[in-house]
Amino acid sequence: MIDRRSLLKLLGLSTFSFATLSGASRPMESETDNDFPLESDPDFWNKIRNQFMLSKDKVFFNCGTVGVMPKPVFEKMMEHSRYLATDVADWAYKDDNKEQFISGYNNLLPIRSKVAALLNCQPGEIAMTDNVTNGMSYIANGMTLRTGDEILTTDQEHGGGKSSWYLKEKRFGVVVKTVTIPKPTQSSAQVFALIVKAFSPNTKVLMLSHMISGSGAILPVKELCAEAKKRGIFTILDGAQTIGHIRVDLKDIDCDAYVGCFHKWMGAPTGTGFMFVKTNKMKEIWSTVASSRWDNHDDEGFRFTQRGTGNFSVLLGLEAALDFHNKIGADNVYNRIKFLGDRLRAGLRENKKVKFFSATEEAMCAGITLYNIDGFTGTKLQNAYWEKANMRPRSQGDQFGVRHSTHIFNSTLEIDKAIKVVNELSV
Ligand SMILES: Cc1ncc(COP(=O)(O)O)c(C=O)c1O
Repeated sequence: MIDRRSLLKLLGLSTFSFATLSGASRPMESETDNDFPLESDPDFWNKIRNQFMLSKDKVFFNCGTVGVMPKPVFEKMMEHSRYLATDVADWAYKDDNKEQFISGYNNLLPIRSKVAALLNCQPGEIAMTDNVTNGMSYIANGMTLRTGDEILTTDQEHGGGKSSWYLKEKRFGVVVKTVTIPKPTQSSAQVFALIVKAFSPNTKVLMLSHMISGSGAILPVKELCAEAKKRGIFTILDGAQTIGHIRVDLKDIDCDAYVGCFHKWMGAPTGTGFMFVKTNKMKEIWSTVASSRWDNHDDEGFRFTQRGTGNFSVLLGLEAALDFHNKIGADNVYNRIKFLGDRLRAGLRENKKVKFFSATEEAMCAGITLYNIDGFTGTKLQNAYWEKANMRPRSQGDQFGVRHSTHIFNSTLEIDKAIKVVNELSV
């Protein structure tokens, strides 16, 4: 019997054009699909590891900076890039199929719908962006605030989350007020009390990380958004570290806006992010990057998604990453990340020379752990990990040691070996 590849060759079709002809929205069959393990398989996670091309002689512990693409994601993206290079002449330039070649003009509704399903919101409330920094900048820049209006935030925000508000402060005279959060953070109750105490009658925006980049602490955002809502304060959360890492349910959190990316914990190609704004609030936000839909409010998410020619291959890779995540099962992913994080923290806690900077309350922690050992800087510890074991956590500077991210492609053996490395370094 003739196989699929030979048949396509005979028909003169690439796999991409075959998929397009047979229904563009159908997830593409990939060679790795056959190897995808059943949930009941006792070797499930080792087999999931085989879905990643990540070199097996190196151990990656830095999804907090950038994630790892599984094979189907990489293949989908490359396949489309190749198609663009070889067959762009097929494009008859009709508005309805423009997105098969470039992004930036179409509404990307199939992808926005998958993102909305993941986050429990409406596709119209989602706009695709390149990253978190863009999404936050679109919102900060597009909001109308008056001189003296206050933006309340914490002292532990990432530059990509906070800087657009400082720009607004310098340009328009709004005031950015920061609350100091202890590191390590003790508890959700502690963070809640500190932030609520800092609200003032002038506070118009509350902007904070859902999970703090420099400690992995999950903040009590639902409770804080409820307090802000009582005072008529616009709430915006920075979800750079949460998407694909912990469950994010936007209806439950009930924030006004949320920005995030897929290139850290979701395993999508770099340059993939989103912004969510509740439909009625999105109407009030001016466009920053203006194309022909800049003032068209029929589909608010599309207004921000239309931002000039972009890389559609990367967005197909994102779609494949969402499919991969769903195929494993979102809860399975979140539970596995947390399980590995817990195992690491429990093992390190046995060593009295390890100092933690992650939150003390375990419920505030998931896949990120921050720690140092006596006599080490972050760089020294990072380098020692590499020299001793080809392991790559990320330095957090002189004081805070390393940020150690665990993900589904990591094994329990790798976690146990990391604990052993730290034990050997701290004798
Ligand atoms: C909390 C937080 N916000 C924003 C960013 C910036 O994200 P991006 O590079 O996707 O704009 C990061 C990146 O590490 C982050 O951790």
